[in-house]
Amino acid sequence: MTRPILQAKDLHVAFNGVKAADGVSMEVRDGEFLAIIGPNGSGKTTLLNICTGYIRPKSGRVQLDGQDITQLSPRAIARRGVARAFQIPQLFSAQRVIDNMMLALAAKRGLWSAVRPLETAARREEAKALLELVGLADDSERISSTLPEGHRKLLDIAVALALKPRLLLLDEPTSGVSALERFQLMEALMGALRHQQITALFVEHDMEVVARYASRVLVWNAGNIMAEGLPDKVFSNAEVRERVVGVA
Ligand SMILES: Nc1ncnc2c1ncn2[C@@H]1O[C@H](COP(=O)(O)OP(=O)(O)OP(=O)(O)O)[C@@H](O)[C@H]1O
Ligand SMILES: [Mg+2]
Repeated sequence: MTRPILQAKDLHVAFNGVKAADGVSMEVRDGEFLAIIGPNGSGKTTLLNICTGYIRPKSGRVQLDGQDITQLSPRAIARRGVARAFQIPQLFSAQRVIDNMMLALAAKRGLWSAVRPLETAARREEAKALLELVGLADDSERISSTLPEGHRKLLDIAVALALKPRLLLLDEPTSGVSALERFQLMEALMGALRHQQITALFVEHDMEVVARYASRVLVWNAGNIMAEGLPDKVFSNAEVRERVVGVA
């Protein structure tokens, strides 16, 4: 078994009495593409928020390469190589695609780079290479709001890749994306992950996407993991079929 990159241990979080994490322990292993499935409100996004420093758990801890990161800020965790793509793409919608990439690359270099010229030749090349990687090279000059949702998701992913992460956490990469575009998006994502040797975790509601792409699946229910394993094993579990697959 490959070694874990990220480990969560006994996480607890409640919002107004609702247990969003109720003793969650899990790990992300080097090189895998781990899926998280589960009903709405079961705590999937909350796990991502805890692992990226947006929410502090009431108890429990998160380790990256064995080091405790539970109390670190989102920025400090990002600097350690954990990037995030969001349920709703976090883009500058009125800006061109290439400008979103240039801003992401500038932001990576921190506060001082913001006062330097945004547009350097090297940065433009890096931006173009990332767009090429996710299949958006032809969209480079378009205003981001005019892209189809699948391409907006890919742009959000390219922005996350600007960090050169080792680990990418994706919250519903295919949500809001048409059935036609969905597999194109997944192929582009998988290609980019393989090329950059990035380990990833993704929350997903589309079971066809999970069955086709996930190397392992965790099933959430009411703030905890109710099943875990290879896609085939998980999808043949009667309780998972009844509670999750049927309602997803
Ligand atoms: N910041 C917050 N403040 C208050 N309540 C929250 C917050 N984040 C999550 N919750 C609540 O915690 C529970 C779990 O939410 P979470 O967003 O993690 O679910 P989810 O599994 O991602 O759902 P979905 O599939 O709909 O995205 C829900 O009841 C939600 O309303
Ligand atoms: Mg969610």
